[in-house]
Order: sequence, then C-alpha cells, then structure tokens
Amino acid sequence: MSTLVVHESMWCNTRAVAEAVAEGLRERVGDVEVLDVARAPSPLPHGVDLLVAGGPTHAFSMSRASTRRDAVTKGAEPGHEARGLREWLDALPSHDRLAVATFDTRVAKVRRFPGSAAKAAAKEVRRHHLGRLVDVESFWVDDMAGPLLEGELDRARAWGASLAEHLAPH
Ligand SMILES: Cc1cc2nc3c(=O)[nH]c(=O)nc-3n(C[C@H](O)[C@H](O)[C@H](O)COP(=O)(O)O)c2cc1C
Repeated sequence: MSTLVVHESMWCNTRAVAEAVAEGLRERVGDVEVLDVARAPSPLPHGVDLLVAGGPTHAFSMSRASTRRDAVTKGAEPGHEARGLREWLDALPSHDRLAVATFDTRVAKVRRFPGSAAKAAAKEVRRHHLGRLVDVESFWVDDMAGPLLEGELDRARAWGASLAEHLAPH
C-alpha cells in the first residue's frame, strides 16, 4: 500500500505544493514517494493505491509542450519541456483500484477564470478510467513565477493529510 505524488513545475511552486502534500500524507500513512513527472513511471508500480498528481495551470488547462516552451521564454529553467502531466496521464493504463486526487497552481488575480490544470487532469482520469477520483484542488500563486500566497503550503499539508482517508483498507 503506497502513495505516489507526481508533480510538474516550471518555477517550483507546484513542486513545493507537492512536497507539502506529501508531508501531510506522511502524518497519516507510511509510504509516500514524490516524483517529478519527467521521472514518473508508467504503468504505476504494483502496490500504489493513491496517486496525487499536480501541475501548473497553463491556458486554463494542463500545460502542453508549447506552453512549457513559452514558460522558458518567460524565464523558467529549461529542461521540463519534454513531458508534462497531460502526456504522462495520457499514456497511463486504466486502473480499477487506484484512488486519484489532482491539484494545480493558479494565479490568484485571475481566479475568476474557471479552467484549471486540476480540473483538466480530473477529466482525463475519468475519461481514461485511470482510477476513482477522490478530490480536486487548486493552490494560489501571486504571479506567473510565484510565489505561492501566504498559507498555501499549510493548506497543502492539511489537504495531503485529508487524502489519507481515501486509502482503501487492505
Ligand atoms: C504559458 C502559460 C500560461 C498560463 N496560463 C494560466 C492560466 O490560464 N490561468 C492561471 O491561473 N495561471 C496561468 N499561468 C500561470 C501558471 O499557473 C503559473 O506559472 C504556475 O502556477 C506556477 O507554478 P510552477 O512554478 O509550478 O510552474 C500560465 C503560465 C504560463 C507560463
């Protein structure tokens, strides 16, 4: 029984949220691994029963190679352009015993726009029967490169702890 937290991140904000979510989960469950999507396995290793997947919201959705390249032209570190959450989820085989939660980071001042990477990832989870969707959450950054708004890492830790409830007893 284990949990995998997979993140995509251009400026490390989503990565920081992923680490905080994992901290929260570890308060409740033992085996929690955090991986960059570039190194995330497909299919998932045997024994993973909770997947938490998060990425930055790009153009109201999950990123694409073109938006990741755009982020690099706007100052993000290069090296993350090849594979994002969208491509990784797209290649994952369907799974009947996995619980899945999705999250994203978004810019707080445009929060009136409805689209988000977490919602798009959730749609992908349902469409491809990747597992049982248990929660979808957004965390807020101040601007494109961050930083995360005050309190968001605490909220991410609490959200992570709450996800442990969805682990199926074996
Ligand atoms: C090409 C591009 C498109 C973006 N589109 C959106 C958007 O539609 N909505 C939004 O709230 N933020 C948008 N953002 C801001 C990102 O959400 C922000 O850069 C991200 O949350 C930072 O997280 P990271 O450091 O993990 O990459 C966009 C950023 C880029 C680079």
